[in-house]
Amino acid sequence: MKHINIFLSALLGLSTPAIVKAEIVDISTPNTSLILDAEKGGSLRLLHYGNKMASSDIATLKEAGAIDRNAYPVYGILPQGEAAMSVTHADGNMTTDVEVTGIDTTTAPDGAKVTTISMRDKVYPFNLNVNYRTYPAEDVIETWVDVTNNEKGTVRLNRFMSGYLPVRYGDVWLSQLYGSWANEGKLSQTPLNHGVRMIKNKDGVRNSHTSHAEIMLSLDGKPQENTGRTIGAALEYSGNYKLFIDTDDSNYHHFFAGINEENSAYNLKKGESFVTPPLALTYSEEGLSGVSRNFHRWGRNHRLHNGNKERRILLNSWEGVYFDIDEAGMAGMMKDIADMGGELFVMDDGWFGDKYPRDNDSTSLGDWVVDTDKLPNGIQGLIETAKSNGIKFGIWIEPEMTNTVSELYEKHPEYIIKAAKRPATQGRGGTQLVLDLANPKVQDIVFTVVDTLMRKYPEIDYIKWDANAPIMDHGSQYLTADNQSHLYIDYHQGFETVLNRIRKAHPDVTIQACASGGGRANWGVLPWFDEFWTSDNNDALQRIYMQWGTSYFFPAIAMGSHISASPNHQTFRRIPVKFRADVAMSGRLGLELQPKNMTDEEKAIVKNAIADYKKIRPIVQFGDIYRLVSPYDGKGVASMMYITPEKDDAVFYWWKTETFMNQQLPRVVMAGLDPDKTYTVTELNRIDNEPLSFEGKSFTGRYLMSNGLEIPLTHKVDYHKNTDYASRILRLTAK
Ligand code: DGJ
Repeated sequence: MKHINIFLSALLGLSTPAIVKAEIVDISTPNTSLILDAEKGGSLRLLHYGNKMASSDIATLKEAGAIDRNAYPVYGILPQGEAAMSVTHADGNMTTDVEVTGIDTTTAPDGAKVTTISMRDKVYPFNLNVNYRTYPAEDVIETWVDVTNNEKGTVRLNRFMSGYLPVRYGDVWLSQLYGSWANEGKLSQTPLNHGVRMIKNKDGVRNSHTSHAEIMLSLDGKPQENTGRTIGAALEYSGNYKLFIDTDDSNYHHFFAGINEENSAYNLKKGESFVTPPLALTYSEEGLSGVSRNFHRWGRNHRLHNGNKERRILLNSWEGVYFDIDEAGMAGMMKDIADMGGELFVMDDGWFGDKYPRDNDSTSLGDWVVDTDKLPNGIQGLIETAKSNGIKFGIWIEPEMTNTVSELYEKHPEYIIKAAKRPATQGRGGTQLVLDLANPKVQDIVFTVVDTLMRKYPEIDYIKWDANAPIMDHGSQYLTADNQSHLYIDYHQGFETVLNRIRKAHPDVTIQACASGGGRANWGVLPWFDEFWTSDNNDALQRIYMQWGTSYFFPAIAMGSHISASPNHQTFRRIPVKFRADVAMSGRLGLELQPKNMTDEEKAIVKNAIADYKKIRPIVQFGDIYRLVSPYDGKGVASMMYITPEKDDAVFYWWKTETFMNQQLPRVVMAGLDPDKTYTVTELNRIDNEPLSFEGKSFTGRYLMSNGLEIPLTHKVDYHKNTDYASRILRLTAK
């Protein structure tokens, strides 16, 4: 960490011009800089975030017109602007006014630097630290805040954002995700205008069905995939969040991100501390895809559980049999997926319940014992069947939940979330309830569900962890009356405690974060989960749009992407298996169907797709993403690619998104290749009777990035096999 002391005069806020000593803190990664002024006795000032700064430019930053705004504004003195933190002190004073008391830098073994700027209220023994952690190899800087109450009584935190970033006013565009169940991860791109843009979540349990806790800001006008200065921000939190951008009458768009403080005021007793979740920031001059690459690398290397381990190709039973589980059915599916080259079978909902068998969604959650009427040889029997097929076995659970019809609820009605004096609202199936993870006894129960399963059946390779209800009543039977407002936060602290215990005991089992589809695609849960379920909608055409959006912040290795049946169970659209496979192969490939309903020809195509996916798996799961043509641009085609970091192997995807006769589609120009390398083209998942004209031919990266390849709009197949869909996957291997 480099501290440069310079003297300069400045007009600070409303104070009179004075000679001020600046303590410059330079928090840099190889390609980005975050510059602070942390002069002791002054307020912490943010001078710059974005491109890498030379030290000579840092020295003259203020003269050039730096941001020079409070890096973490607190509420009370001149309260008109938005604040990152608002506090009611023990004596009722609602103002906070902090000054810098120290700067501390430590270096982690991985080279990351953690810089803590310590601050203290000028009057109250209330301490506030703003922290920054660098991830040099990925150009990511995390920021978070911790506060400690050393006052005589309880301090109430009314707002407690993780971070604040002023962005120079201009033609700045916001990219964000929105959606709904079965339509998650949709992309919205709009310019920032005056007023407040608010992105928030209030589900209580899941937080990414609708909007997402991640954004990108394009600083050079309309967002471009591979050019332009772009900031990315991701709040690493699994619960209710609030991200907002206030474009006021200043020269700045004020971006704030943190826990949603609504109905969540947090009481800190004397001596207690509160730590916010981190906000990850990154910056790239290679556009939206550049920011995605930074997030993907950072995620895989530091955040995603087992982020550098290849994921297996699986068949999940849900859309194949729904609740209709039995031993013969499971055995049939296992044989079928093994025959097609798959590596894992996951038994979804419906396998459990003794007194109350789980035959539909209205009973049994919490009673995690196998239903021996359905599965006489139990889970071990299924594991043996999987082994005899040469594949692994996985299982579905929903451990945060119960039903009114369950043995757990009969024994422990005090464990559910409900408001005092009112009946509990019941969710899915008319009977579902959420367990109160604020309660340590409930935390034990949830831990024990997984721990018991894994101890009894250590060969379980994969757990699909579902969560199909929001917090439906604001009320904890565990928290005291004056701490009821802690529920939304304590739920997630409890969740994290459970996950830490599970991972300590069972580090190797793959765990998917599912939550009624894509409710848990967030960087808050991924340190304990290996992947998330992207959506309950597996319609390949719609998935192009959802996966495109999701790929802005999350790598393909984490994005469950399954070939489903045709007609699709959500949209009822009929899509040929080739197109379904070509879309699913751009994420973590799996199947979500009943194989016995497939034709032999479909099975052969999927078998071939699985074999091809195995060849490109390292490129897809560990490669760098370059998005080329967006489905949202309405050009009739969508296209993207993954490339190895060495740029010696790449996969190119091309999906036609609409079909008209004699339509004119753009010729797609590639990106991210080495201009001086020569790449040989091989088509994967080929169904055509004759190879593409460029099959086996070689082209320089320079040619492919300037010209691309002319992709035929239709497939050359026997007449009766023609469909209205077309797609291609090309592998580009450098010589
Ligand atoms: C919701 C999930 O998203 C589905 O994939 C499936 O696991 C069901 N729950 C099971 O109830």
